[in-house]
Amino acid sequence: MATLLYNIGQLVTVAAEGQPVKAGEAMQELGIRSDAAMLFAERILWIGTLEEARALQGQGKLHWDTAVDAKGRVVVPGFVDSHTHALFAGSRLQEFLLRLRGYSYQQIAAAGGGIWATVQAVRAASLEQLLQAAQPLLQSALHHGTTTIEIKSGYGLDLESELKMLRAIQELRRMLPLRIVATFLGAHAIPPEYATQRHRYVELLCKEMIPAVAAEGLAEYCDVFADEGYFTLHEAEQILSTAQQYGLGLRLHADELSPFGAAELAARLGARSADHLLYISDAGIEALRRSGTIATLLPGTAYTLGLPYAPARRLIAAGVPVALATDCNPGSCLCENMQMVLSLACQQMRMLPAEALTAATLNGAAALDRSAELGSLEVGKLADFLVLRLSDFAEMVYHFGVNHVAEVWIGGERVWSAPEL
Ligand code: NIG
Ligand code: FE
Repeated sequence: MATLLYNIGQLVTVAAEGQPVKAGEAMQELGIRSDAAMLFAERILWIGTLEEARALQGQGKLHWDTAVDAKGRVVVPGFVDSHTHALFAGSRLQEFLLRLRGYSYQQIAAAGGGIWATVQAVRAASLEQLLQAAQPLLQSALHHGTTTIEIKSGYGLDLESELKMLRAIQELRRMLPLRIVATFLGAHAIPPEYATQRHRYVELLCKEMIPAVAAEGLAEYCDVFADEGYFTLHEAEQILSTAQQYGLGLRLHADELSPFGAAELAARLGARSADHLLYISDAGIEALRRSGTIATLLPGTAYTLGLPYAPARRLIAAGVPVALATDCNPGSCLCENMQMVLSLACQQMRMLPAEALTAATLNGAAALDRSAELGSLEVGKLADFLVLRLSDFAEMVYHFGVNHVAEVWIGGERVWSAPEL
C-alpha cells in the first residue's frame, strides 16, 4: 500500500545523505523542502513536488493507493528518544515535594528514597502491573511525537526482577506501535543488601545477570550509572567489559552528579553514547571527540534537579555529535515529551532549533545504531514521521509547553491522529 502525502508546507528531511551521524555545523543542515510531496509504503519511496508526482504517475513511473493532504503543515522525522527509564512502578511525588523544599537528590537517596524507592515498588509489582503502569506513559510519548524509544531496566537490581523488567519491555513491543530498544541497567545502584560487600553485587552482575540477559536476548545494550555514590569507574569498566564480551553494546550514565571522568571511560571503551555530562571536563570532551562517542544530553534532568545544564555549545564546537533525549523516569525527570526537551535545549543550553532537531532525530537514531534506517526522511529509510500543526518547525521551540503533533506515522502507517482543534 503506497501513500502519497502531498501539500507538505515544510518537509524537514534532516538530510543525512549517507552519513550515520552529524557533528559541528552539519547539525544545522536540515535539508528543508517547501511545498513537497512524499511517497512511501513501509519505507520512503520518493520525494518531490505534487506536480512531479502527477507527471511521473502519468508516465506510469509512480503509483499510489491513497493520497493524504498534509494541509500545508510541517513534516519532520519522528523523535528518537534514546535514553529513558520509562518502565517503573510507584510514584516519587513525595521526593519531588521534598526537593522543592531544598533537599538534594543525593540527600533523598541517602535517606532511603531515590532509585531504591522505585526498586522496592518494581520488585513488588507483577509483570502485568508494570505493563499497566508503562502503557499510558508510552502512549503519551507517542502522542508527543516519539516513534522510537530506548527503555532501560535498572529498577529490579536482582536477577529475577531485572529479567521481569526486560521481559516487560519485550511485551511492550507487542502492545504498542513504538519501536523499542532495550538496555540492561542492572548497574543502576548498589542494592542495600550488598551495601557492605559491593564487589559481590558486581560479581552477580558479571557472572549471572549479564550472561542470563544475553542468553535470552533480552537487551541490546548495557548501561552503568558511574557516579559518586553509585558505581566507581573501576566497577563500571568491569561490568561494561563483561557486557561487551557477551555481545551487548555499551552506554554510560556519565558525569551526571559530579565530575567523575566517566566520559573518558565511555570513550576508551568505545561506548555508543555517554549520557548526561552535566559535569564533563575538557579532557572528557576531547576524549568523546576522538572516539566519536555520541554525547546524549538530557536537559529535563538538569531542569528537574536544579543542576547546571550540560555544555552543549562546547560539545558542538568541539565536533562531538550531540543527541537529545528525555531521561523519562520517576525520580529525576518525569517527562516523556521530546518537544519540551527541544525547548529546554534551545532556551537553556543555547542550541539552535535546527541543531536540536538533528539531535532528537538522526543523532538519537545514531545513538541507538539505527541511523541507517531511521532519523531522517530520505528514500530507502523507514517512513517514521510527524505532521505538526505549524508552518515552520522552529515554532515548536518558540511556542512551548503544548503539543504540536497532529499525526504520527510509523513504518508508513498512521498510528495516531490528534483531534482537530
Ligand atoms: O538518569 N542517573 C540515574 N538514573 C536516573 C535517575 C533514576 C531515578 O532517580 O529513578 C537518571 O537521572
Ligand atoms: Fe538516566
